[in-house]
Amino acid sequence: TYEKVWLVAAMVLIVGFIATITYGAVGPGIAMIDDDGGDINPDEINDDERFAEPGVEHVGGNEYEVSVVAQAWSYTPSQIEVPANSEVTFYVTSRDVTHSFSVVGTNVNTMVIPGQVSEMTVEFDEPGEYGILCNEYCGEYHHTMEGKLNVV
Ligand code: CUA
Repeated sequence: TYEKVWLVAAMVLIVGFIATITYGAVGPGIAMIDDDGGDINPDEINDDERFAEPGVEHVGGNEYEVSVVAQAWSYTPSQIEVPANSEVTFYVTSRDVTHSFSVVGTNVNTMVIPGQVSEMTVEFDEPGEYGILCNEYCGEYHHTMEGKLNVV
């Protein structure tokens, strides 16, 4: 009968609406994470062009990019050197557990989460020596996890 046809049609519409809403909520969210470049598979750090050879890269003018890999209980590289009057963008990721990357005396203080790339930019006007510390408890030798940033 026609009643059954309309019932089925209504059910199809309802399922269709739910599918649309679910796609709208979940689909683009996943796409955004893929597109922003902020995620990284911890097992593929060595294949990522930013982290295959971590360190300082001069990208033009007074701009530098520094990629750092955190792993219990050290940073690679552990010694960073940039010139004074430079604008430095740090990209930091973790190979194992959650760490932090904190440059003492600057506003650089970020969590470093496996699977994500933390990014922050800071200007160094004057020469100086800065300690780098892990502020996030990451195991037995957390307190030994440190590095050094020299602005020359
Ligand atoms: Cu790494 Cu605490």
